Amino acid sequence: MSEYRDFSPGSGRRAPRAAFASDAPRIDLNGVWRFHLAPAPGAAPEGSHLPGFDDSGWGELPVPAHWQLHGHGRPAYTNVVYPFPLDAPHPPDENPTGCYRREFELDPQRAGRGGVLRFEGVDSFFTVWLNGRELGCSAGSRLPAEFDVTGALRAGRNVLAIRVTQWSAGSYLEDQDMWWLSGIFRDVVLLEPPVLNDFFVHADYDHTTGGGTVRIETSVPATLTLPELGLHGVPSDEPHSIPAVEPWTAETPRLYDAELATGGERVALRIGFRTVRVEDGLLTVNGRPIRFRGVNRHEWHPETGRAVSEETMRADILLMKRHNVNAVRTSHYPPHPRFLELCDELGLWVVAECDLETHGYFFVDWRGNPSADPRWREAYLDRMRRMVERDKNRPSVIMWSLGNESGTGDNLRAMAEWTRERDPSRPIHYEHDHDSTYADVYSLMYPPVDEVDRIGRREEEPLADTAADAHRRALPFVLCEYAHAMGNGPGGLSDYEELFDRHPRCQGGFVWEWIDHGIVHPEHGHAYGGDFDEEVHDGNFVIDGLVFPDRTPSPGLIEYKKVIEPVRISVGGDAIRIENRHDFRDLSHLAFPWTCEEEGVVVAEGVLEDVTPGEVPLPKLPELPENAGETWLTVRAVLAAAEPWAPAGHEVAWGQGRVRPVPARPRRPRRDLDLDAFDPLTGRLRAVGGLAVAGPRLDLWRAPTDNDRGGPLPDERVWRGAGLDRLRHRLVGIERDGGDVVVRTRVAAAGHDRAMSATYRWSAEEGGRLRLELGVEPEGEWNFALPRLGLRMELPSGIDRVAWYGGGPGEAYADSRQAARIGRYAMTVEEMQIPYVFPQENGNRMDVRWAELTGGDPGHGLRIEGEPVFGLTVRRWTSEDLDAARHHAELVPREAVYVNLDLAQNGLGTASCGPGVLPAYRLTARPATFALTFAQVTGQRSRGAMPGMPGTAG
Ligand code: GAL
Repeated sequence: MSEYRDFSPGSGRRAPRAAFASDAPRIDLNGVWRFHLAPAPGAAPEGSHLPGFDDSGWGELPVPAHWQLHGHGRPAYTNVVYPFPLDAPHPPDENPTGCYRREFELDPQRAGRGGVLRFEGVDSFFTVWLNGRELGCSAGSRLPAEFDVTGALRAGRNVLAIRVTQWSAGSYLEDQDMWWLSGIFRDVVLLEPPVLNDFFVHADYDHTTGGGTVRIETSVPATLTLPELGLHGVPSDEPHSIPAVEPWTAETPRLYDAELATGGERVALRIGFRTVRVEDGLLTVNGRPIRFRGVNRHEWHPETGRAVSEETMRADILLMKRHNVNAVRTSHYPPHPRFLELCDELGLWVVAECDLETHGYFFVDWRGNPSADPRWREAYLDRMRRMVERDKNRPSVIMWSLGNESGTGDNLRAMAEWTRERDPSRPIHYEHDHDSTYADVYSLMYPPVDEVDRIGRREEEPLADTAADAHRRALPFVLCEYAHAMGNGPGGLSDYEELFDRHPRCQGGFVWEWIDHGIVHPEHGHAYGGDFDEEVHDGNFVIDGLVFPDRTPSPGLIEYKKVIEPVRISVGGDAIRIENRHDFRDLSHLAFPWTCEEEGVVVAEGVLEDVTPGEVPLPKLPELPENAGETWLTVRAVLAAAEPWAPAGHEVAWGQGRVRPVPARPRRPRRDLDLDAFDPLTGRLRAVGGLAVAGPRLDLWRAPTDNDRGGPLPDERVWRGAGLDRLRHRLVGIERDGGDVVVRTRVAAAGHDRAMSATYRWSAEEGGRLRLELGVEPEGEWNFALPRLGLRMELPSGIDRVAWYGGGPGEAYADSRQAARIGRYAMTVEEMQIPYVFPQENGNRMDVRWAELTGGDPGHGLRIEGEPVFGLTVRRWTSEDLDAARHHAELVPREAVYVNLDLAQNGLGTASCGPGVLPAYRLTARPATFALTFAQVTGQRSRGAMPGMPGTAG
């Protein structure tokens, strides 16, 4: 077995063919295998491929699985860099080699019929022996390989031996940004030799007539039965026109059950009729341009890595559908074939990407890139063939992608040419070919909005070659990756969405990426790069998903759901505007309930009837008393009946509008404020009524987010350079002014002359209320964005609950706030935290009008009111603790509750990979004032008892 260091993709394998299950018997070879990990291929135990070998001293390993997740070797994470020298096709000598053995029994009849051994995925190279006879070998980790076992099968006991090398020549083609994990990680099955070896379904839909055509090319003559469309045992490979069919789309995934039969064998299939085209510069399906509201999906499970169960696949799709995601790019390899069947069934557009990436050659200026080296040609073609042949019958697959970040070169061109020939029905995608010479769509990753805008107007920078330029300028445009969902973010989703709305050429994109690839770890909770002492690694760059490793949606996914909602509802003036943003569906599957809330309390509700796109008059709202509070009307679009992906009532979209403004703040009689309420050394307030506090003081720092830490000149570097993480407060003066107390401070960092002068004017109002007016004046040069501009205060640790009226329920930031709706919310302090795997700023609630923080004891609480609003963060650790921690598990509650009250925060952006915070969301330093009122919460927390509630308290 020396081929593991050859350019050749394998030997002894059967020709690639479609994935399908016939009714022929199959033997599932998943389960527990005998296993031994040798340090190198040459160190594999002598004769361990022979049936008589004594493996009683070996351990066990499940198949499918990665051996590193079962105590053999360790996971390793790199993004771009190869974890071995660039010395193709040679893998390193330290090349852990998994030796697998298992037995199975066959009755004589069955043995006589021969068979095919199928592997759905083995990482990275393997050789197979059956009963001591070598069947062949294969590279291409995320692609199937089949071997003919006829002649090697025996009646009775059979012994299968597999040797898997961790590294191979193929590893040079598999430099995807993910964990390096090895072994037989997808199913192994023994099939009877198929009568019908392969077939290719061509099922087109003609949107001009509503008719369809079906023709199935087969390897041997077969008949087709499609009862619903009146086809019974017709020759499959003749075109059959059907005058009326329901087309397949991601929104309406209509599948027709059918059967192919030949020589006593039957294959059940599900056919979707649809036609994909690039015409007039647009990507269309069934004659209509489509919009990708997509995600990049790696296969991932925090305990099993890329060995994912059907349950996990289904969970991903359900979560996607429930968050309005309509498309998946299978970054950066073909997924388990079952996943694509589920996409057919539940409805997602799929860009199926080949198992190919050579990004690490970037570090040597692409010298020696396999994409341009003819010795690799066969390996490239082999990978493409194996994907296209396997997945060609999936209606959900509407585009083939050659791979990811593999530079350019004729091997890629050859892949494209072969594919076009084999399957002219689907366009080809490949991002790294920036001139789009072999792709049918123009695709980029992480361009800033202004560039997308130019592309949308077809006014992008011209290419030097005019013919190439004309070709590319005529192509539709997609963002195969955008909005890097690492940590807190992405910010700016709605800015991209606006461009997709504005420019038909911009047909949407795929957020990077679906899931955080955290690995469950006893000490860290979830591990990332470096946690396994890797020699080279890329840290937490692998934690960049819209869902946490355990698939809990992150705020980024909630925001994305809102931004891409297929129905836009705007409430304003005297009407509700409903826009249908589906590509195919009308609104008849939705119901439109509404609620009217006064200060977050429902005062009326109903359902809008017969909603069609356009303007709907406002429902009749109740007469509210003169002194009623701020009132909002919320209209939601929910599923009227259950869909296969969500129950009836599931919310798809919503819109809110204010129907009654915030009442004017009543003027309250002032009282004299005592200087004793303040610490004479610092000027900080000591108590609100009977509640001891460390009073609010100016605070600019936030624990940098991954996005703050990204980009060519990270904000974080600027901020730390300016000492914003170590600001000191000097008390300039504390004095009485009328009945008020005025505290002046100068806030600055060691070594710098720039400062913020902060003036706190405190006034006492009737009812024990304390009003603070903060004035901030920058001194010196502040020519960079601030992390925050606000206050921080400390409360006793007994405070454990937060109720507020304002934006929620989740966190929000200037450029990621679409999903926050105005309402009344209540949570524990713990529930307010967003458990980013890598700790960073989180949990800010925006547009808060008032909040009450309370604990067990009556009277043990604080009410804060904004004028009119503030940003609220409540946690049991400081920003500095968050900043210092490297894993969520390191955060330990302190004996206090820390409350941030913000006038503003900087946006989030997506600089961890891509553009930073857009100018509109940058927080610049300028003179500002900010007013809040504080009062002790006394007695029971009920609406009437809350002091200062507009319209309730006197
Ligand atoms: C892209 C790449 C992805 C991922 C992403 C950053 O360049 O295609 O695989 O690395 O950047 O997370």
